[in-house]
Amino acid sequence: MHPAEPIFKGDAAMNAKYKHFRVETDRDGLVWVTMDKQGASTNTFSKDVMEELSALVDELASMKPPGMILKSGKDSGFIAGADVEEFKAARTVEDALAIVRRGWDTFNKLAALPFPTVALVRGFAMGGGLEVTLACKYRIAVDEPATRFALPEVMLGILPGWGGVMRLPKLIGPSAALDIMLTGKSVDARKAKRIGLVDAAVPPRVMENAARIMALEAPPLKKLRLKERMMAGPLKGMVANMARKQVAKRARPEHYPAPYAILELWQKHDGDPFAAPAGSPASMATLAAHPTTANLIRVFALQERLKSLGKESEFAAKHVHVIGAGVMGGDIATVCAMRGLTVTLQDQNAERLAPAVKRAHDLVRKRVKDKYRARDTMDRLIPDVAGDGIRRADVIIEAIFENLEVKQSLFAEVEAKAKPTAILATNTSSLKLADISKTMTDPTRLVGIHFFNPVPQMMLVEIVKGEATRPELAKDAAAFVRQIDKLPLPVKDSPGFLVNRVLGPYMANAFRLVDEGISPETIDKAAEQFGMPMGPIALADTVGLDICAAAGKSLAGADAKPPACLVKLLEAGKLGKKSGEGFYRYEKGKPARGQAGQVTEDLIKRLIAPYLAEAQKAVDEKIVADAELADGGLIFGTGFAPFRGGPMHYLKEGGRA
Ligand code: NAI
Repeated sequence: MHPAEPIFKGDAAMNAKYKHFRVETDRDGLVWVTMDKQGASTNTFSKDVMEELSALVDELASMKPPGMILKSGKDSGFIAGADVEEFKAARTVEDALAIVRRGWDTFNKLAALPFPTVALVRGFAMGGGLEVTLACKYRIAVDEPATRFALPEVMLGILPGWGGVMRLPKLIGPSAALDIMLTGKSVDARKAKRIGLVDAAVPPRVMENAARIMALEAPPLKKLRLKERMMAGPLKGMVANMARKQVAKRARPEHYPAPYAILELWQKHDGDPFAAPAGSPASMATLAAHPTTANLIRVFALQERLKSLGKESEFAAKHVHVIGAGVMGGDIATVCAMRGLTVTLQDQNAERLAPAVKRAHDLVRKRVKDKYRARDTMDRLIPDVAGDGIRRADVIIEAIFENLEVKQSLFAEVEAKAKPTAILATNTSSLKLADISKTMTDPTRLVGIHFFNPVPQMMLVEIVKGEATRPELAKDAAAFVRQIDKLPLPVKDSPGFLVNRVLGPYMANAFRLVDEGISPETIDKAAEQFGMPMGPIALADTVGLDICAAAGKSLAGADAKPPACLVKLLEAGKLGKKSGEGFYRYEKGKPARGQAGQVTEDLIKRLIAPYLAEAQKAVDEKIVADAELADGGLIFGTGFAPFRGGPMHYLKEGGRA
């Protein structure tokens, strides 16, 4: 039996040399390396950190201890990957290649150490943070929700060039590895164990002992199953081609070269980024010079900026009360429960609550794989017809019908019952906060928290500051939005806020093009060719044509003539996907789309122009604080072609369609 607590002895001479790593030896002689990047709350592999690790690995190679364990000294997680700021600052292709070279060489040296090496991962291991674990012989994950593994490079337009493309397929087989590398999605500790990415997923109290035993016992390394070996061997070309076809459904190579580069690098060069010749699709130089790469890194920075807006307040909710269990309220409640909050959900009667609870069950079953966590999530979601939760809640979100008088009387009642510190929020899309709060004793207490449909998928949430809203309240609301893992965007209380305002003229224009005789298929194809994830006509069908018509009316005014195609469909009761038919007919939720016509550059320009013009106007009118926030909001709120870096950036670059 091993004693539970190893006795550590710090190595003073070594520790004096390293700023970002602590080195300790336990009574078994195992060396514990704790990465704790100086002056940072999160571990990232910046140049100096990587150089230190390289020197430390050299030193370990000559020390030859019986084993080494790498862990993190940060509460925030294990390692977040490369320092994206350094990537952003890389001016030339040579600069970018130097970053790749540093990590590639260091991790190869780490992998070659002749004694057992164990990565002990608690919290996120992203990008280079995962690749460093792959260069260790064993991996132990702490089984907590915060522990997540991902290779998100593809989302930044780059590839896992520090050994990820080489080592991950060998460890877990090509199918699981390609899935992780090509989508950037993360896996938790249990899934990591299931797919063989880690050797064990353990509770926190035994993590150090588990790492220690692994290093001392050094069990034989697992071999891939025959099927996976075949896929990595004789069937490699076929597997790569099938994956290429899958990728092509989501991303065009001229817009998004990175997933194609990853496939090529794995298939032809065994993941060695320096083996790909210049001009090959797998060449790091080609990738680093591609405009998409800079734009996707920009999108990452925009996302970080939106996240940081949630850090301006310490507000943290425990209990959320949602009023109105319709399309929006039901899903808002479920998302909050999935993020660990207690939620009471109110509607007029139990019959109206029932469909929301059923939808919650379906969503939780899909998203929360562990059945105990799923059960706990549903336990936290409490139907509350009487509205008892109002008195206890830290955040109260109103999502009832879009009717001013009803909302006014509701808020008068809510204000009287709610805790004085509670955030009172409306999800209204079209009513002015100043109007809703007229019946309140203290109108400064009302803020807009405007979610998008479908709530579980849409990252963005607009934080609407009404004329009277207390500025700190908007900051508290942004902190709450981060708590449920969405991206807050502060906007002025003006019709359509940012997102719907920009979508309005874009969609109306698309309907007018249909009235001119251009087919919905052709219009959608033109938008997709520009890089939108979904064309405006398919989007209208998804949102619901009744909702589009109402939004159009509220933005353009009741007197504006609605597009003829929309009126005709609505008169025929065709509301879009939800009624089985709109512009397209739906079978099992999928549109039956006919052949699209020829898409010209001119059509793309005509389609996108109103979008760009409205984005510019919204920035000029200070609906958001600056153009950068408009880009972030419109990418995460409308899906504006991410590889173009956002509409304002696109305009600045000369707006080529
Ligand atoms: P919905 O019609 O699906 O649901 C509204 C729910 O509120 C119904 O279940 C109704 O029974 C309930 N309700 C009405 N009065 C109530 C009261 N006094 N007390 C308790 N429950 C009451 O509506 P939806 O689409 O969810 O919209 C709700 C709000 O969210 C509206 O303000 C809308 O503008 C806004 N919104 C809607 C979006 C959408 O795409 N549907 C997107 C963003 C915001």
